[in-house]
Amino acid sequence: MKFPDHFWWGAATASYQVEGCNENTDWAKAAKEGRVPLAGRLADHYHRYEEDFDIAKKLGHNAHRFSIEWARIEPQEGIFDEKEIEHYRKVLQALKKRGITPLVTLWHFTLPLWFSESGGFERKDAPVIFARYCAFVVRELGDLCEHYATMNEPNVFGSNGWLRGSWPPFKRFAATDLVSITNSGREYKSRAEKGIRPLFLYMRVMKNLAMAHNMAYDAIKEVDLQKDISVVKHVIYFHANRNPLNIAKARIANYTWTHIFMRRTHKKCDSIGLNYYFHKKFGDSAVYEKTDMDWDIYPEGILGSLRLLWKYKKPIYVSEAGLADREDKYRAAYIQRQIEAIAQAIEDGVDVRGHMYWSLMDNYEWALGIEKQFGLVKINYETLEREIRPSAWVYKELIEKYSQ
Ligand code: BGC
Repeated sequence: MKFPDHFWWGAATASYQVEGCNENTDWAKAAKEGRVPLAGRLADHYHRYEEDFDIAKKLGHNAHRFSIEWARIEPQEGIFDEKEIEHYRKVLQALKKRGITPLVTLWHFTLPLWFSESGGFERKDAPVIFARYCAFVVRELGDLCEHYATMNEPNVFGSNGWLRGSWPPFKRFAATDLVSITNSGREYKSRAEKGIRPLFLYMRVMKNLAMAHNMAYDAIKEVDLQKDISVVKHVIYFHANRNPLNIAKARIANYTWTHIFMRRTHKKCDSIGLNYYFHKKFGDSAVYEKTDMDWDIYPEGILGSLRLLWKYKKPIYVSEAGLADREDKYRAAYIQRQIEAIAQAIEDGVDVRGHMYWSLMDNYEWALGIEKQFGLVKINYETLEREIRPSAWVYKELIEKYSQ
């Protein structure tokens, strides 16, 4: 099967995870307090993006998703840094020069310190502040990029920050201990502020995030009506065996994790980004091989995830999908199975526009540090040498095969 013309093939990164030295953020502060691992220089992508884009080009990528670090652009409330805008203009020009289409995420988890310290997304005026930032960036970069996601994975941000308490601002809803779905930094949990209140704050934050997206959409459209604007949604594919009780559980879980947020925002989306990593099947006795994150190897779940989002009838691009696999043992087969599942979705009529593997290179896996390796490209953190993993070439062959 041939994929649609102009299908985006590539990989994704996020500023805090690869750029290095984003010190003016809530995560850097949490790291200094010993609550999450220090990031430091990381892959130094901030200075080495040309080299990294050369690799992407060599690997056959025609698109690339990356994020802008809000703290660089707006280091103090209402004060914007033209030098940093210039930096991201150069990044976009570097992609353009190589014929790679950019997909920009305006905010990927990390917050400027002034914003987080003053309440972050708990703030009543957070949506206005966020929309102002988004409109500013699009005004400055608009001539170089057409596709913008306002935010990455609002549910992951909210639940890790206010329910599990494993990420800044480390607030934990007491009952969360009973339902741990991911291992997003267990060892740090004990230091979280624990209680009932985080649940109410979580609900407020989730509402504010939806409002922030919607206001950012309008603000960007005022700058340029033509821009394609999306939200990047993390979907856990909940499914079930034939037991009606399990089927009901899966429905409720999909509603809670995916649909509540999408119902609030889909009218202000020209397209939707899908991040797929894992599934949960109720009443499942199958035993799965595991990634280094201890997640089931089940790339086929992307098909169900695409179908869930297709309910909103907006073009979808896979904005992230991939696995931590230090030995590169499973990655090639994983990518292949994932692409086959996407092909199936396209055949079923889902309007899928692209596939961004997570990630182009090894990076800082949040509260788990640099040990988990998702990259098509291995990073040697001592020498900063880039080494292309064998699976990256398999991905290239698949891109060629499905583009013919
Ligand atoms: C996030 C990435 C993260 C990846 C793997 C996604 O939830 O957007 O920042 O590294 O998953 O856990």
